[in-house]
Amino acid sequence: MTHRLTTTAGAPVPDNQNSWTAGPRGPLLIQDYQLVEKLAHQNRERIPERVVHAKGWGAYGVLKITGDISKYTKAKALQPGAETPLLARFSTVAGELGAADAERDVRGFALKFYTEEGNWDLVGNNTPVFFVRDPYKFPDFIHTQKRHPKTNMRSPTAMWDFWSLSPESLHQVTILMSDRGLPVSPMHMNGYGSHTYSFWNDAGERYYVKFHFKTQQGHKHYTNEEADQVIGKTRESYQEALFGGIEKGEFPRWTMQVQIMTEEQAEQTSYNPFDLTKVWPHGEFPPIEVGVLELNRNAENYFAEIEQAAFSPSNIVPGIGFSPDKMLQARVFSYADAHRYRLGTHYESIPVNMPRCPVHHYHKDGQMNVYGGIRTGNPDAYYEPNSMNGPAEDRFAKEPPLRLSGDADRFNHRDGNDDYGQVTALFNLFDEGQKNRLFANIAAAMSGIPEEIAERQLVHFERVHPDYAAGVRRARAELDGREPAISVTPATPQQAAE
Ligand code: NDP
Ligand code: HEM
Repeated sequence: MTHRLTTTAGAPVPDNQNSWTAGPRGPLLIQDYQLVEKLAHQNRERIPERVVHAKGWGAYGVLKITGDISKYTKAKALQPGAETPLLARFSTVAGELGAADAERDVRGFALKFYTEEGNWDLVGNNTPVFFVRDPYKFPDFIHTQKRHPKTNMRSPTAMWDFWSLSPESLHQVTILMSDRGLPVSPMHMNGYGSHTYSFWNDAGERYYVKFHFKTQQGHKHYTNEEADQVIGKTRESYQEALFGGIEKGEFPRWTMQVQIMTEEQAEQTSYNPFDLTKVWPHGEFPPIEVGVLELNRNAENYFAEIEQAAFSPSNIVPGIGFSPDKMLQARVFSYADAHRYRLGTHYESIPVNMPRCPVHHYHKDGQMNVYGGIRTGNPDAYYEPNSMNGPAEDRFAKEPPLRLSGDADRFNHRDGNDDYGQVTALFNLFDEGQKNRLFANIAAAMSGIPEEIAERQLVHFERVHPDYAAGVRRARAELDGREPAISVTPATPQQAAE
């Protein structure tokens, strides 16, 4: 049966084709409230896109725990045999909502687990590291990825200027410019929690942990040339692949792994284990298999369920905690703040964000409050403490103390940090073909930038491996049809002093 068309107030609409006018030739009558409602709603159809990671693709699924990590964490969703429903959203970082999917960029890998102890969000990327290690630099870095204020175009000069002045970016830049910087679909890439988080168990012991999701579809990548062809045909290749695959019953899977570090080990590693520009080498901290993540259901409405999804690293559950990682600490603030701006005060009442467990708190009122006052279960319990049987804290959720020491200061995050060693380890993993594509991708990305910026960056490549710098020089020369320059000299006084 066809439903009767109504206004938003439920009144039947007699005519949805012709507006209400004084005579057949007009003008319009302002009393045509149905027309006014339609136009006013259209004016409010858009919400701000995410300030980063605007273009995305998502689906629902389940996490099944097959391993046993119960000695590290009490999180119910991670106990042997647990099955937890989830939402995943993948994204590019820099492009706007209408950007093409097959662009070279880091991919977001955001997961929301609807656990019985509250929502647990793991808001990671398809890379294990990041471009900056101090959140003070995040807005600056993102400005270089977005449009130039005057030209309104992306600026390779800004990107390489920033990167060459920020050697901690080299690890992530190398991954971005390598094959893995352009996966053919969200299914053909790994996901990483990237940060160091905590696990804690019933005995109140803390361990540090990194999360990995290894693709079971295998890694597949486009070259720049292949991606150009794809984008020429469709800008929505990821949506087509993910949505289309799930509609056909092809459910992508990832193997979940964790790496575990004790608090004592964290004091002994040669690198800072809370530095987001570093990995924990597998040889020292072997990955432990935990379970399987599967995506198996598409959203019914993209806007309601994927665009309005609100993922936040602040969403943790008992048994999981943060770490001293400065970047993680800043993200714990930033995301819920972004959601209040992008979606409104009560963004967690939007069905896709609603926890699938009882929710009781004393927050009151506010715009678009759809849960009816406060969520205490008793109208007289609207403050705390109270003797009205209102919701009360539960010490079961109290995390063990975090060991900290030292002075509070603005420490130079570049002091004593090796920004090159792990990049060398990565470079050495690449075969000849991978290396040549890396060089060519960098040469293409550097096109048109001032020579002094290119030289400053080449010093960093040289420090990773002489072949890295030589390869990029060769590829740049080939692109320009000239002989490669051979020597590498420090391009800034700072580099000369190092
Ligand atoms: P391992 O050889 O033990 O681990 C290599 C890791 O690198 C695997 O996770 C593998 O992922 C990944 N990898 C393999 N080939 C590539 C590639 N072409 N591009 C990006 N990643 C790749 O070495 P280490 O643990 O000592 O790490 C060496 C380097 O590997 C690191 O410096 C880092 O750059 C990179 N890496 C390390 C990770 C870690 O957690 N230790 C995670 C990802 C990258 P897969 O199994 O899916 O192929
Ligand atoms: C999205 C801030 C670093 C992964 C966002 C958003 C903000 C933000 C404001 C938009 C949120 C929204 O509107 O819903 C920051 C800050 C960072 C940082 C301040 C550093 C200090 C990182 C890192 C990762 C990451 C290191 C990955 C390891 C993501 C992902 C999304 C996102 C995946 C999209 C989530 C979704 O699909 O909705 N970030 N970010 N970000 N960020 Fe970050």
